[in-house]
Parts: sequence; C-alpha cells; structure tokens
Amino acid sequence: MKDTVPDSYWQGFAQRWNRLGSPLRPCAEDVANFRKSIGDDPGRCLLLGVTPELAELSLDLTAIDNSAAMITALWHGRQRAIMGDWLEMPFAPASFDTIIGDGCLVLLAQPMQHQCFFERLARTVVPGGKIALRVFVSPELPETRDQVCRDALAGKMKSVHAFKWRLSMAIASESPDYIFNVAETAATFDRLIPDRQRLAAATGWRADEIETIDFYRGSDARYCYPTLSHAKKSLPPSLVEKEVIYGSYELAERCPILVLEART
Ligand SMILES: C[S@@+](CC[C@H](N)C(=O)[O-])C[C@H]1O[C@@H](n2cnc3c(N)ncnc32)[C@H](O)[C@@H]1O
Repeated sequence: MKDTVPDSYWQGFAQRWNRLGSPLRPCAEDVANFRKSIGDDPGRCLLLGVTPELAELSLDLTAIDNSAAMITALWHGRQRAIMGDWLEMPFAPASFDTIIGDGCLVLLAQPMQHQCFFERLARTVVPGGKIALRVFVSPELPETRDQVCRDALAGKMKSVHAFKWRLSMAIASESPDYIFNVAETAATFDRLIPDRQRLAAATGWRADEIETIDFYRGSDARYCYPTLSHAKKSLPPSLVEKEVIYGSYELAERCPILVLEART
C-alpha cells in the first residue's frame, strides 16, 4: 500500500481528522447499521483501520492499521491495535468471528488489490463469519465534473464533504478502474470554482470547511471509488453477499454497508 498512499499522507490526515465529517467519517446511523449487520455479540472482531466510531462494536476487538501516525492519533489505547497490512494479515486462518471496516476499498488502489484484500478477509474470518464493510462507491450512472460544480453553485448540496466526494467520484468515473489521484480533486475545484466567496454565498459553507479540499493539494495519494457492481467483481467464491444496507443521510446511497459471509 505504501506506493499508493504514503505514510506522510496519513500523518497529515491524522492531524486533520477532526475537521472531517460524514460521509467520510461514519455517523451514528452508520454505527447502528454496522450493529444491525453483525449483531450484539460479534465475538472476536477485527477492525480494519482505527476508525474510533467503530471501536465499541465488540468487547473483544483488535484493530489493524499500517500507519503508526493514525494509530497514535486516533486509537488512544482503546482495545488492541496492531500495526500491519490488510493485504498480508498477520493472523492465523479463522482467527476472527467478524471483520468490520470503513471505507477500506478506497485505499486499495492498485489493480488486483481488491481481490487480494477479499481473499485475505475470507481466510482470516471463521467459516460462517460475517464481514461488514462500508464501501464508498461511485454511481452506476456517472456525473461529470461540470455537473457537480454547477450543482454546488446552485446550492443543491448540504455539506462540503458530500461535494468533495461527488467531485472525486466524477473524476474516478472517467477511468476504467475508478482510480484517481486525489490532487486532481483540488485542481479541478480551483479550475471550475475559482471564486470561493461565491461558493460560500451559494451554499452557506464556512471558509474553513471549504478549505478542507486543500488537504488533497499536491498529494500523490491515489484513491479508488469503484461502482458497487465493479467492487463485487473482486469477491472470491469463498465469500457470499448477504445484504447491502443503506443509510438516509446525504450521499448515503454511495456509502452502503456491504455484508458478506464466509462459506462454511
Ligand atoms: C479505515 S480507512 C478509512 C477511514 C475513513 N473512513 C476514510 O475514508 O478515510 C483509513 C485507515 O486505513 C489505513 N490503511 C490504509 N491502507 C491500509 C492497509 N493496506 N493496511 C492496513 N491499514 C491501511 C490508514 O492508515 C488509515 O488509518
């Protein structure tokens, strides 16, 4: 993963975490939907990443993240946190009853990484075990960069975070593998909406909220926003789709929880 999202990126991300909001961070409705998908007693649970909002979903939880900066900034000694790569998974087969994660596919932006990721999950969970992942997916019918910016200037979006995602997904949809450089989101914003005061007046967004788009500026990190159907193509036969749960917040249709079960 280091060639896709360098650790220096996560150091900056950790410092800025508190300035980010839904849909990037899971909201109370997402947490409730995770709970619905894995139940009240998920047993030995593996959390992919150190998303604090998901830390209470099991009394027996282990987090795995490959960034020391993110573990230090977000975890604060909650339960066990292990530094490791989801694509390697330093655990014996069937070590966990449940696996959960928020937005993980976004960060696996090399060809073949999604397949490898799902195969590792299938091996790490017990047969019959549940895997619940909130996935950030581009719409099956793509939008254009211009359309998204026009909608923002027409005041049709509630949150600046939803705007950033729609713009990023419009860019991702231009590539057959849905992979893009996040710096392109900031560059497109500068080009199509050069007047931030006009955007603030149209939307009611504060200047410091709009500035969160600058986090992406100059970054060499690459993200992947596949469509749901594209993402499902990477599932191995050992994983069965159980359900897809949607929330009701802005852009929730692009942030469902994909619930899988390992075949017995
Ligand atoms: C769980 S994800 C998504 C969190 C948030 N919802 C978002 O979209 O940014 C972010 C975390 O994944 C970690 N991460 C990214 N790729 C990883 C990998 N291959 N193995 C382990 N951790 C990884 C990063 O260090 C970061 O802490």
